[in-house]
Amino acid sequence: MNKDLTGTEALLEELSAKLPDTNAKVMVSPPFVNLANAVQKLKDSEIEVIAQNMHFAENGAYTGEISANMLLNIGINTVIIGHSERRAHFGETDEILAKKVKAALANNMQVMFCFGEELEDRKSGNHFNVVESQLKNALFDLDLTAWPSIILAYEPVWAIGTGETASPEQAQEMHAFIRKTIAEAFDADIAENVSILYGGSVKPGNAEEIFSKPDVDGGLIGGASLVADDFIAIVKAI
Ligand code: PGA
Repeated sequence: MNKDLTGTEALLEELSAKLPDTNAKVMVSPPFVNLANAVQKLKDSEIEVIAQNMHFAENGAYTGEISANMLLNIGINTVIIGHSERRAHFGETDEILAKKVKAALANNMQVMFCFGEELEDRKSGNHFNVVESQLKNALFDLDLTAWPSIILAYEPVWAIGTGETASPEQAQEMHAFIRKTIAEAFDADIAENVSILYGGSVKPGNAEEIFSKPDVDGGLIGGASLVADDFIAIVKAI
């Protein structure tokens, strides 16, 4: 819940003007009310506009909610599902998230699925179990054919918006575990090909080291994405 329309437009203008020539896929995810404008603003840019959330129902009596079709209809083809703030502040359980993932896939959308442990889980050494069960509950009954439409974003909750980052080694350790878990549940090809992003206080100063880890394929950037020069520096780091 950052940036009004004026602020979003100014940020996107600066980002598209400063975007380096890169093979990296760059996506931005403004709030719902700014999405249609963002799509227009970036129509000649390589930057894709994606949504922060959606409802699982096709339409109906869900006041205040947004459906897959509403997103598709304004040119949005990718949606973030399961961000830790949705889980923590809006009661989104694994069960709800599983329904959202299925609804997005049924509408041929790409899903960026977020998950990650809380501080107590890490302190008690339970972080691998928590991550495995989040993946299992939302994704493990998908068909093999769904996987090309899934991007994973590992975001340890204790590192989001806190200024505290998982060390590059902690990120790599968890990303390797995620890939192994997916290889066991599905197959090695799927595990190898799925993009696993790291999120949680990625900044220009730490991005390169985090992205240099073999199982870290990219980042989900919060605070640093609100300042064009910082976000561009992170894009350059990938
Ligand atoms: P942060 O946010 O980069 O500010 O920690 C990450 C996120 O919101 O997913």
